[in-house]
Amino acid sequence: MTASDIRQSFLDFFTKQNHRIVPSAPVVPPDDPTLLFTNAGMNQFKDVFLGTGTRPYSRAADSQKCIRVSGKHNDLEAVGYDTYHHTFFEMLGNWSFGDYYKAEAIGWAWELLTREWGLPKDRLWATVFREDDEAEALWKKGTDITPSRILRFDEKDNFWEMGATGPCGPCSEIHIDLGEGFCDKHTVPGHVCGVNAGCGRFIELWNIVFIQHNRDDKGGLHPLPSKHVDTGMGFERITAVLQGKTSNYDTDIFMPLQSAIENLTGKSGRDEALAASFRVIADHVRAVSFAVTDGAIPSNEGRGYVLRRLLRRAARYGRNLGMEEPFIYKLVPTLVGTMGAAYPELNERARHTTHVIQSEEERFNEVLDRGIEIFEKLVADALSRRQKQIAGADAFRLYDTYGFPLDLTQLMAREKGLTVDEAGFEREMEAQRTRARESHQFAHSGGDWQTVSEGADSAFLGYERLSMKTEIRKFRKDKDAVTLLLAETPFYAESGGQVGDTGEIVGADFHIRVDETRKQGDQILHAGRFLSGSEISSPAVEARVTTSERLSTARNHTATHLLHKALRKVLGDHVNQAGSLVAPDRFRFDFTHYEALKPDEIRAVEAEVNTHIRINHPVNKFVTSLADARKRGATALFGETYGETVRVVQIDTYSMELCGGTHLDATGEIGYFRIVAEESVASGVRRIEAVTGEGADRLLESDRETLRTVQALLRCGPDEITSRLRSLIDERKSLEKEIRKTRQASSASEVDPLLADVRTVSGIRFVAAEVSVPDVESLRMLGDKLREKLKSGVGVLGMISGDKVNILAVVTDDLIREKSLKAGEIVKAAAAAVGGSGGGKPHLALAGGKEVSKLQDALGLVPSLLARFIDRPQAR
Ligand code: ALA
Repeated sequence: MTASDIRQSFLDFFTKQNHRIVPSAPVVPPDDPTLLFTNAGMNQFKDVFLGTGTRPYSRAADSQKCIRVSGKHNDLEAVGYDTYHHTFFEMLGNWSFGDYYKAEAIGWAWELLTREWGLPKDRLWATVFREDDEAEALWKKGTDITPSRILRFDEKDNFWEMGATGPCGPCSEIHIDLGEGFCDKHTVPGHVCGVNAGCGRFIELWNIVFIQHNRDDKGGLHPLPSKHVDTGMGFERITAVLQGKTSNYDTDIFMPLQSAIENLTGKSGRDEALAASFRVIADHVRAVSFAVTDGAIPSNEGRGYVLRRLLRRAARYGRNLGMEEPFIYKLVPTLVGTMGAAYPELNERARHTTHVIQSEEERFNEVLDRGIEIFEKLVADALSRRQKQIAGADAFRLYDTYGFPLDLTQLMAREKGLTVDEAGFEREMEAQRTRARESHQFAHSGGDWQTVSEGADSAFLGYERLSMKTEIRKFRKDKDAVTLLLAETPFYAESGGQVGDTGEIVGADFHIRVDETRKQGDQILHAGRFLSGSEISSPAVEARVTTSERLSTARNHTATHLLHKALRKVLGDHVNQAGSLVAPDRFRFDFTHYEALKPDEIRAVEAEVNTHIRINHPVNKFVTSLADARKRGATALFGETYGETVRVVQIDTYSMELCGGTHLDATGEIGYFRIVAEESVASGVRRIEAVTGEGADRLLESDRETLRTVQALLRCGPDEITSRLRSLIDERKSLEKEIRKTRQASSASEVDPLLADVRTVSGIRFVAAEVSVPDVESLRMLGDKLREKLKSGVGVLGMISGDKVNILAVVTDDLIREKSLKAGEIVKAAAAAVGGSGGGKPHLALAGGKEVSKLQDALGLVPSLLARFIDRPQAR
């Protein structure tokens, strides 16, 4: 069976048991902030298990793309060193949502493995949670497994949890004994092969979890409303077993990649010393490609950083295979070839993925060698001081200056038998974070908080109102700077890319200008200055947001939603928002895309947005549950944290996004939209700056002003600008040509004085002189002229321009023929005197040098040079 056959036969088996086959969720979870990457098949059903979501079916099965490189499930360190762990793998899974339970789940797993796929029963083992009598009994009753092959284990091995929080429960696993030869721990003292003993002989194939609890963030376990089944089988492992391979990397899932690496590197994957590098590269290119395909981008934080680490590790392993140039991106087509049919998105976004990987490789390659050099020095230093550890500060320097992630330095250190002071590294990192924080301090006043009134604070009413009467709860001040906390406020605090409001807060005997509004936890802080008064004695105030600014910001915010949609329409579905800044006077929108926008794409995007401004769509905002919003198809942003209830901004049937920002009531209020700039901000991420409303007016006005100035300078009407400019440019070109000609002609006229100075050595006529001509081209023309007029002879001309000196030699044809004189040899010898070199044809050659003051010496050498060349034995 091929790998695809195996995947299909799993799905077919569960189709027969009335399961709905669902697509794999993206490997970048669309809206689960507790997860960097999808790490199990059940992730997409978390809400069903928790009872907050439902599906129109109660049984499902799929093959899920998973990445396990961080958090609770992290296999990174094992990858490459063994043959059965991966950062990216496929998980075959079947689920029951409050439907069947332990008996069916165990029975079907056994049936598929032993009857459908014919695995030998005497090699299979089952495990159950230590308290799970029911599961053990079901194994005995419902299958023909040898009872002594059912083992009990504790929480570590038989209680499965998704992460620090979330659905969990006892589990029952199926392991296979591959035979003694597979043990990779026989050199470890005291090692005895067995289930869960950690060697390659007994490996876990299938995990069947009985989801019953939810773990909260304080570690407590709560029973779930219903009981569910969640299973997961390692696709690469079962494929290796069914194909009779000793390593997952020998299956048809990995072989094409292994061969492609062999072709690119000219090395053999069978070479024991290189095999681990092959495995790491083949593994990492899968993880990185799938993650980039699903919208992740290498960066310095979160999942982007995990990606960067993987790619940099792979690049470093590439060095072990002699790869000095970027090459990992060249493996993408092979991956698309093997997996594109099962995961069409790989194919659809291959160009983007390739591009992102290539630019990340290029970026790292620039510093990799230098980093390795520094690292080698650190190792030598440590060893010479008989130390077994690389200092945290040194590892941090490698990270900060050369982009070496800590785990890469650790890995390289491990190869040299050293460790890295991780705590020291973290200290340096924290110190840098503190420095960064301090330089971005919110400009609020110091001083202690003073309470003016009691009660709840920071209720945000600014979606509906821009001014209101309210009360000050607390304040603190330092001279005339003041920070306030209000009971209720119309002020929007900076978040979701939208800047905070400005405005004023007016009390009985003071007037405060608010310059900044920010969140601190759930509190909304208003920071500003006293314009009049300086004491706050009673709580009652009127809070007023600067209406014009708020409106301009709303225009820009609603426009970002139109722009997002327009970009996807014009460029494609790979476009995802990667960040934004919405201010009153302009906005910035970052999105995933791999190349600069062409002028016609920019025009098309502008036209699309402006069309939907003119349609004047109503903009609805409403609050609903996250599940409902998802069901309606609202766009969520990667990496955003959403609570159970979310706010949805819906522009008619055109766009629907989760968004907490302030918006217009209809798109027509935007007025007009124009893109000001489009540029790259990171590999695979572009940025658009745009303006709307008055900002767009100002932009058009300044464009028009520029045009007016141009017209005035050209003294012409608007229609004639292009033709006027074109003829000016042509005119300039022909004038330049004229000037060149005139200069050269006048240089040529300098030939007569030279002829007056002809000397002779060994019967050869020659001229050696410094001339003053404007450029090398003129020098050449002068040389040509001289050669013509000499009839028979040699000319050597020197010219100084700035801090450079040029020497030109010419030889007439008769002397080339009869005396074997060559201009190239002459000029080379002369140029040596000015610290230069050069060459050319026998009849004309040119050299350049730097020692301007030596030109006269060089020219003085000419007679003796010529004498030497003439006196040398002639070649026959
Ligand atoms: N969710 C279970 C696992 O990942 C099946 O092992």
